[in-house]
Amino acid sequence: MNTLEKKRFLVLNGPNLNMLGLREPGIYGALTLADIERACRGKAASLGVEIEFYQSNHEGELVTRIQAALGGVDWIIINPAAYTHTSVAIRDALLAVNVPVIEVHLSNIHRREPFRHHSYVSDIAEGVIAGLGADGYLFALEAGAGRLAARAAHGNPS
Ligand code: DQA
Repeated sequence: MNTLEKKRFLVLNGPNLNMLGLREPGIYGALTLADIERACRGKAASLGVEIEFYQSNHEGELVTRIQAALGGVDWIIINPAAYTHTSVAIRDALLAVNVPVIEVHLSNIHRREPFRHHSYVSDIAEGVIAGLGADGYLFALEAGAGRLAARAAHGNPS
């Protein structure tokens, strides 16, 4: 049996990521969010995990979605977009549900303006992937699945 069967990943995307494809393509690339979702769904299927993909332009909606993950989600992958640099509320929600998190950014935020260098999520994340474009989401799915499988192999079913 696949030890990852029924493991659930929540992939969250913050504001303006619905504009990918049109938005500053020199920085964010030509792929749309629908392209990224399709790639994530393909990767999840090949890993044998379930995935929910969600985008919102509203901080409170992202907070509500994180809260709803309690008990039903095994791993969160989040690109908080601009809220990365501003949102104590998203940080607190992630801490409240205590689900492991990988933070993803399409661009390398450390090569950009100084205000993008600080993240309210990085120090509470298991890992951070920045600058690798849409591949970052796929690497995050692989890393999360690998960790869940390793945990299951060591006798911790959660
Ligand atoms: C981003 C980087 C953020 O600084 C920016 O506000 C975004 C996208 C990225 O994926 O590179 O909206 O999170």
